[in-house]
Amino acid sequence: MSDKPAQAASVAGPPHRHIRSYALRRGHVTQGQRRAYERWLPTVGIPYSAATLRFDAVFGRDAPTVLEVGFGMGETTAAIAAARPDVNFLGIEVFMAGVGALLKRIEEQQLANIRIIHHDAVEVVRAMIAPDSLAGVHVFFPDPWQKKRHQKRRLIAQPFVGMLASRIVPGGYLHCATDWEDYALQMLEVLAAEPRLRNLHSGWAPGSSNPVATRPTTKFHARGQGLGHSVRDLVFVRI
Ligand SMILES: C[S@@+](CC[C@H](N)C(=O)[O-])C[C@H]1O[C@@H](n2cnc3c(N)ncnc32)[C@H](O)[C@@H]1O
Repeated sequence: MSDKPAQAASVAGPPHRHIRSYALRRGHVTQGQRRAYERWLPTVGIPYSAATLRFDAVFGRDAPTVLEVGFGMGETTAAIAAARPDVNFLGIEVFMAGVGALLKRIEEQQLANIRIIHHDAVEVVRAMIAPDSLAGVHVFFPDPWQKKRHQKRRLIAQPFVGMLASRIVPGGYLHCATDWEDYALQMLEVLAAEPRLRNLHSGWAPGSSNPVATRPTTKFHARGQGLGHSVRDLVFVRI
């Protein structure tokens, strides 16, 4: 099975061209991930479409909704969703093995408050997320794109940050984390320059705290620490 987002073929209208923040890997998908993908994506997945999502309809209840961009293998998503059953979590990821891995956790832990879109988050936010609708956004350890010529592929940059800010409800938050020093500085600069956002702290957020959830330590966090990097969290609030 290809690693391409399964629902990409359903995109209506002319494609919007933008720089991809990911490289589509033909990463290994385990049997368990594939089984979970085939079994649960029809129920827990939301197909990409150019229509705005109604959170109450897709989650079957009226509750605050937090969006996670690039959830990887979903360990943070599952841990936070289990700790906050009163909150809806909408996870977006392009990597099929990651989608399968999170679906497996959802099945094993019986998590009812997660929905998944297997698609490019930039396109999803642009087309499917209504203005002033999200209680929060999580972007944890986005791909660092270290080489100078690749840095234009970083997610936490304009115009995506402006688009995200516009989708957060006033009082809601954007929480980013990275272990790459220069990306952390870029995040601080870009988020501070966004007129709809205000830093909740002066500079980095202490520990891994945010207003409503604690970010657990994951593989990327531990790997950064193993490389001797400092992990930086940033929490900005929508004005
Ligand atoms: C370095 S990993 C971090 C994963 C996870 N957040 C964590 O902390 O373990 C970044 C993830 O973002 C995903 N990603 C990058 N750009 C994306 C995009 N535009 N839409 C959806 N997922 C994206 C990648 O496929 C990858 O799984």
